[in-house]
Amino acid sequence: MRYLGVDISREFLRESTRCLADDYPWLEVHAIHADFCQRVALPPGVPCERPVAFFPGSSIGNFAPWEAQDFLRGLHGLLPAGGGLLVGVDLIKDARILDAAYNDAAGLTAAFNRNLLLRMRDEFEGDLDPQRFMHRAFYNAAESRVEMHLVSADEQRISVAGEQFHFSSGETLHTENSYKYSVAGFQTLAAHAAWTDRDALFSLHYLERA
Ligand SMILES: C[S@@+](CC[C@H](N)C(=O)[O-])C[C@H]1O[C@@H](n2cnc3c(N)ncnc32)[C@H](O)[C@@H]1O
Repeated sequence: MRYLGVDISREFLRESTRCLADDYPWLEVHAIHADFCQRVALPPGVPCERPVAFFPGSSIGNFAPWEAQDFLRGLHGLLPAGGGLLVGVDLIKDARILDAAYNDAAGLTAAFNRNLLLRMRDEFEGDLDPQRFMHRAFYNAAESRVEMHLVSADEQRISVAGEQFHFSSGETLHTENSYKYSVAGFQTLAAHAAWTDRDALFSLHYLERA
């Protein structure tokens, strides 16, 4: 059996495929450093009979629905007949559960969000003080998505990669969306079969290419 891991982060790809190869010595592990938003070229000479693409977590939610549809269409084109796709999809649920998850007590999501500021500062010659932006995440029910923002604590001017930006107090940088679906809603995007957990918080969809 073969596993072909795809990730845009070379370091994460190297580490995760190495762990997988250590844990499953019988598995033939390949690493493909690529952007999955582009057409991913599979390595020549690696046979893939009845391949199953696995898109775990709820990364599909980071696409807008129309982008998710394009992504699924692209995978359909990549896989041969009989190939499958197992995809994790976070479900619409009580807004309090979502708000708590994206405002976790340990501050992990806030740190993830604010990391953008550190990268702007360190990698794009940013002249900004990360402390002057606050993490904000909330469920936008009208759009069925959790939105993450960085809120300017006061009026300020920053510069990134030679460009100047003005923020008034409370103005936000909209940094991420995480769309939530109903099982039926996701199935209208693309699906043949769906499973969900007991509390209907998360769903796994197995799509088979006809
Ligand atoms: C939030 S992590 C999710 C990891 C895993 N799917 C899970 O559920 O635990 C997202 C992963 O997708 C990778 N990634 C994000 N955008 C990508 C892209 N356009 N092409 C390839 N990999 C990407 C990131 O480097 C990261 O490893």
